[in-house]
Amino acid sequence: MKKGKVDALLGIVFGDEGKGKVVDVFTPEYDVVARFAGGPNAGHTIIFEGQKFVLRSIPSGIFAKDKVNIIGNGCVIAPDLFMAEAKELEAAGYDLKERLHISKRAHLILPTHRVLDRAYEAAKGKAKVGTTGKGIGPTYSDKAARIGLRVGDILDRFEEKYAALKARHEQILKDLHYTDYDITDEEKLWLEGVEYLRGFHLTDTEIEINRYLKEGKNVLAEGAQGTMLDIDHGTYPFVSSSNTTSGGVCTGLGVGPTDIREVFGIFKAYSTRVGSGPFPVELFDETGDTLREVGHEYGAVTGRNRRCGWVDLVALKYAIMINGVTQLIMMKSDVMNDFETIRVATEYEVGGKRTSYFPYEVGDDLKPVYREFPGWKCDLRAFTRYEDFPAEFKAYVEFIERETGVPVKIISVGPDRGETIVR
Ligand code: GDP
Ligand code: IMO
Ligand code: MG
Repeated sequence: MKKGKVDALLGIVFGDEGKGKVVDVFTPEYDVVARFAGGPNAGHTIIFEGQKFVLRSIPSGIFAKDKVNIIGNGCVIAPDLFMAEAKELEAAGYDLKERLHISKRAHLILPTHRVLDRAYEAAKGKAKVGTTGKGIGPTYSDKAARIGLRVGDILDRFEEKYAALKARHEQILKDLHYTDYDITDEEKLWLEGVEYLRGFHLTDTEIEINRYLKEGKNVLAEGAQGTMLDIDHGTYPFVSSSNTTSGGVCTGLGVGPTDIREVFGIFKAYSTRVGSGPFPVELFDETGDTLREVGHEYGAVTGRNRRCGWVDLVALKYAIMINGVTQLIMMKSDVMNDFETIRVATEYEVGGKRTSYFPYEVGDDLKPVYREFPGWKCDLRAFTRYEDFPAEFKAYVEFIERETGVPVKIISVGPDRGETIVR
């Protein structure tokens, strides 16, 4: 039998590109959908039949009732938030217990990890990362320091292990003079979440995934965050704490690089970033406000304003290179329906010199060089075939394809499942 393959769908900018929507649209073509990195810092929105869901830890393939969904070893999971998320889905009629499988190797986010997240941010002052406050950094730090707790730990002598790590965190918080916190209620809910988690299929998901592949089944790896937030390749230190890029698919699921077939790189027809850190194409003017308002660019997890700007081809090309992107997916094109002109950053100018590489550090002297396109000035939602799109829009898409050398295979013109055009 022919071996199955893993296709990866990765955010290639600063996250919130629309991964949830497209994973949901793609799911019927796969047997398994798996998250390989991140945790409840993610907020993946799925809209269909007038319903809206925002998933954090649970893969976006969960709405197709005959598919297996996996939370892989590269993920971090907060039992209380997981319980809330799962119960919401169960209340909406989705039975998860049989088909949501969780890696025993995924790390647990403790209530004290969230306090540490706040404490480290407070200590950074103006240089704060602007994290989602979900304890992501401290949890991955404990993983790397080899002191973290994993999902598998809840199956044996858990109370003891939990108390030891909590005490360790409390000592750090004391040393940081960050003592004004109270996790009593949160901890109660968290421990309830641990109990709830025990009712799930906690397993060696890497063995399971490889068995599926051997059986000829195909897996869709759902990315979280985006390339520019990758711990190695993003705008460090203003990044998240996991490998959000294609390498993370291998380590976060336990599959080999030769098992990966397509790498879908998803981006918006403009750019956004939430949290601090360099964002060369950021617009501080009315256009930026319009993108935010029309695109509803407010964080799905924290409700914060997303910073908005034009597409940045320098960053896009960099992300395509890092991930080995084979196909592009362009989202939210409809947000610019009324724009007279649209701009795209093609290069940066640093100290009077042009460069087309994303630099080690983005200084104040870096300025994007833009190319301008006429807007299409019509409602893209009216079209169902690429050929019928207005010439101005096609020129914009095809320019991005020529510059990046990667085909734009899918265009999204609205948040609903149905508002998706495949070429
Ligand atoms: P993710 O984190 O990558 O899954 O993306 P988010 O869910 O955080 O943010 C994407 C937002 O854009 C959500 O509110 C989606 O409902 C919405 N969205 C997705 N695709 C489109 C589109 O083509 N047009 C419009 N207008 N909204 C979209
Ligand atoms: P999805 O999967 C957008 C950002 C935070 C912050 C930085 C570090 O929905 O695209 P963290 O809490 O991870 O330590 O925060 O990363 N960030 C995201 N931005 N989308 C996300 O996920 C994000 N997850 C984290 O805003 O700047
Ligand atoms: Mg999101």
